[in-house]
Amino acid sequence: MVLTDEQKKAIEKEYNEFVDIQYAGLDKAARQAAAMYYTPPELTIRMLEKFDDLNDSVIDCCAGSGNLLAAALIAGADPKQCFAIELDKKIYEEVLVPRLTKLGVPKENIRRGDALDPKAWDFNSDYKYFDPDEVKEKKGMLGFFGNVRTR
Ligand SMILES: C[S@@+](CC[C@H](N)C(=O)[O-])C[C@H]1O[C@@H](n2cnc3c(N)ncnc32)[C@H](O)[C@@H]1O
Repeated sequence: MVLTDEQKKAIEKEYNEFVDIQYAGLDKAARQAAAMYYTPPELTIRMLEKFDDLNDSVIDCCAGSGNLLAAALIAGADPKQCFAIELDKKIYEEVLVPRLTKLGVPKENIRRGDALDPKAWDFNSDYKYFDPDEVKEKKGMLGFFGNVRTR
């Protein structure tokens, strides 16, 4: 498919509104460790032009700040047929969810999860991602209270 000049400008404009916060304040080292290199509009436009059309679902299983999905939405994808999975809590909460919901994507289509877990792909399921760091923190708290009780 070929995007119009208006669509390309709109994709760049929307991207520029998020460019400063797209990494949610994570520093370069954290970003490099997690391969967080987000796709600029020059590339999302070229990627979309490889699609035949946007009449089907669009899923980005490592959605990051949502650059590809945002561009697809602006190019005409149906928000109800757009789906995102992203592992990083900060990017997910601070950028991906507000950005895609603003473009009309239902919150239940934007999932914090591990794309390597097949259950994460089933958007009809009650998939819940358990962050190993958060689980560790909770266990630490239980240990602390446990010690108090035994004194
Ligand atoms: C190269 S960036 C994605 C770029 C994005 N598709 C875009 O349109 O700009 C890779 C993202 O994958 C996320 N990620 C890494 N491992 C993941 C996993 N197992 N499941 C889901 N997301 C993951 C990282 O946190 C990072 O935000």
